[in-house]
Amino acid sequence: MYRTGTCFKYFILSNFQGCDASLLLTGSGTEQTAIPNQSVRGYGVITDAKSQLEASCPGVVSCADIVALAARDSVEILGGAPYDAETGRFDGTAPGSNVLAKLPGPNMTVEEATPFFTNLGLTQEDMVTLLGSHTVGVSQCLFFVDRLYNFKGTGKPDPSLDVSYLAKLQSLCPDVTGDTTNVALDENSEFAFDTSYFRNLQASKGVLRIDQEIANDASTSGRVNTLSASSNTFGADFGAAMIAMGRIGVLTTGNVRAICESS
Ligand code: HEM
Repeated sequence: MYRTGTCFKYFILSNFQGCDASLLLTGSGTEQTAIPNQSVRGYGVITDAKSQLEASCPGVVSCADIVALAARDSVEILGGAPYDAETGRFDGTAPGSNVLAKLPGPNMTVEEATPFFTNLGLTQEDMVTLLGSHTVGVSQCLFFVDRLYNFKGTGKPDPSLDVSYLAKLQSLCPDVTGDTTNVALDENSEFAFDTSYFRNLQASKGVLRIDQEIANDASTSGRVNTLSASSNTFGADFGAAMIAMGRIGVLTTGNVRAICESS
């Protein structure tokens, strides 16, 4: 699980910059050093795959493709539907300087988050479907602690949170300033790639504000209802949305790095 969540995170973070494995580069000024990326972990999974591929088939499989394939395998290993991830990407060296501007934030509303997806050629439906990847993995308290104690500066919790779940999150995140403690994004189901995330949203148990917003906003709630009711629809649509996302910013000429960490 530790590994699978990480692979997804690589994928989404890479993608908003173009799916080019820039995130794997180490050193100052790289994507890895940008604040939203500092909690990304498990880079060794990609390093392991790369060294095995280079040993048997040098210079052929890009780091960007390894990331995309790792995300695909993560879904299936956790019980999600298989999909045919596309390959053929080259590796890039985008700087970390514009990561903050390119990534949507956890406290966004649907209206604020949607353009991050539509500007890249994805739809609002894709956004809701892809957020379904929060069916696995964790968030640090610091990304949602304001909802527990001081929502929008009111000095009170976010009223859209279920009251007993609020109490649970407060006990998991007692530090009102927000710390790095990890909390499951999908209560009681963080290791299964299933539709439980959407049912938890319907029960007002979204961890991040954007999670809860997609269930409460009139423009996206119908989609949440559809996905919560059908794992077949979620499985098929999630795969299609991952393929669409995997086409963003793809480099079709250039370099296949021999070592993913350095250009
Ligand atoms: C509006 C869009 C999104 C926002 C605001 C958002 C925000 C976040 C935040 C704040 C975290 C916790 C990070 C941490 O504590 O370090 C997280 C975790 C995660 N996100 Fe998203 N996310 C979005 C979309 C996506 C998409 C499209 C995917 C993949 C297709 C994705 C996959 C994940 C996964 C797998 C985790 C868990 C990572 C782990 O356990 O280490 N997210 N997301």
